[in-house]
Amino acid sequence: MNNLLQILQDRHSFPASRLSNPAPNDEQLDDIIRCAITAPDHCQLRPWRFIKIRGDARHALARVFVDAARLREPQISEQKLQKLSEKPLRSPLIVVIVATLTVDHPKAPEVEQLLSAGAAVQLMQLGATAAGFGSIWLTGENAYDNNVKNALDIDSKDRIVGFLYLGSPPDDKPSRRRPAVSEHVSEWRGD
Ligand SMILES: Cc1cc2nc3c(=O)[nH]c(=O)nc-3n(C[C@H](O)[C@H](O)[C@H](O)COP(=O)(O)O)c2cc1C
Repeated sequence: MNNLLQILQDRHSFPASRLSNPAPNDEQLDDIIRCAITAPDHCQLRPWRFIKIRGDARHALARVFVDAARLREPQISEQKLQKLSEKPLRSPLIVVIVATLTVDHPKAPEVEQLLSAGAAVQLMQLGATAAGFGSIWLTGENAYDNNVKNALDIDSKDRIVGFLYLGSPPDDKPSRRRPAVSEHVSEWRGD
């Protein structure tokens, strides 16, 4: 098997807390995002964009998460808020992937645009792996919260497809059991 195929087959996520410095620098991140924007994209709508959050801005993101959680759940415990505030600090770099969907497009329904954005995230993960970095795609309630979108200058009509946490992977790579191909493949023979 060639090297690239092996890299693709071996890709796996890391817990965000296991991703450390150095994160991809701006040049390396551009390379990773160049992979993302090869995502299949019906009618070239380019329905995705990428917001990078690194360094101290992660503390600001933590405050956004906490404020949004208080509004979602006024009775939330301080313990839960503390946990939430630590989330963005787990990895040195977070990229928010945003999908802007064109409603009632004559050829590319919204679901296809969303699929394109999902493909973009996965291509980022593959690009990051090939560049020697680790990542994990996370969402959670914050991804669907208009107060979070507002704080990040994202229109409430747009979707946060994911928070991609990025950094250098640990030395001990968890081996993920993948299903056998045969469990997911059938052949239709037309008879
Ligand atoms: C759209 C999407 C959202 C996800 N959100 C979360 C999440 O919020 N929390 C989580 O633990 N895993 C989440 N995952 C799963 C992880 O990104 C990851 O795929 C999973 O841990 C399996 O690891 P693997 O990528 O090595 O197979 C999400 C995956 C997708 C596709």
